[in-house]
Amino acid sequence: MLGKFITLEGIEGSGKSTNLEVIKAILDKNKIDYVLTREPGGGPLGPLLRELLLDKDQSISPSVEMLLMMADRKDHVDNLINPNLDKGIWVISDRYLDSTIAYQGGGRQLDVKLIDSLSIELKLPTPDLTLLFDLPVDVALQRAEKRSELDRFEREPKDFHSRIRDSYLELASSNNRIKTIDSSEDIGIVTKQVEKHLTEFLDA
Ligand code: TMP
Repeated sequence: MLGKFITLEGIEGSGKSTNLEVIKAILDKNKIDYVLTREPGGGPLGPLLRELLLDKDQSISPSVEMLLMMADRKDHVDNLINPNLDKGIWVISDRYLDSTIAYQGGGRQLDVKLIDSLSIELKLPTPDLTLLFDLPVDVALQRAEKRSELDRFEREPKDFHSRIRDSYLELASSNNRIKTIDSSEDIGIVTKQVEKHLTEFLDA
């Protein structure tokens, strides 16, 4: 049997990485074999591509940025995601294709049809479940600023991040696999929402 493919999405500071622990605990309790990974950076070429893409001193055009994200993803899919799913091992990825639609489509205002057709040509698998961590942009950016030095994306102005949030919410409204979590709530309430969606997915 194929493993399940779960992705986590959200704007900067949305708390998706923090909730990985909650997800791990539920999968462990259910004795599910899984690997945790992330984008950009999950495939063999990933570390180099990630460094390049996040480097605040690099000037990268929107189309090149999108193509590099897709190259990183193809490398990740072929070398880590598909081989694990084929062995029945679940794959949990911190970001995936919806990030390109939201950041490069919404944020950088590239044509989403191009991203969609590339993903079909590259035969990228569709996640079985996506958890979208959503919260107001102001709150999220304040959280992100408290962390380490800001990367190339985190430095962008507020309207860039607002367009990304809008794109994510639009994607969620037309895709049943995407479950939106209100990440502005206290951590305990956010955890409960994650548990609810994951448990419903496991029971389905
Ligand atoms: P992270 O900090 O959540 O690991 O994500 C790295 C940054 O890369 C984040 O600002 C979002 C951005 N990104 C894109 O712009 N497009 C993509 O397709 C992916 C996967 C990430």
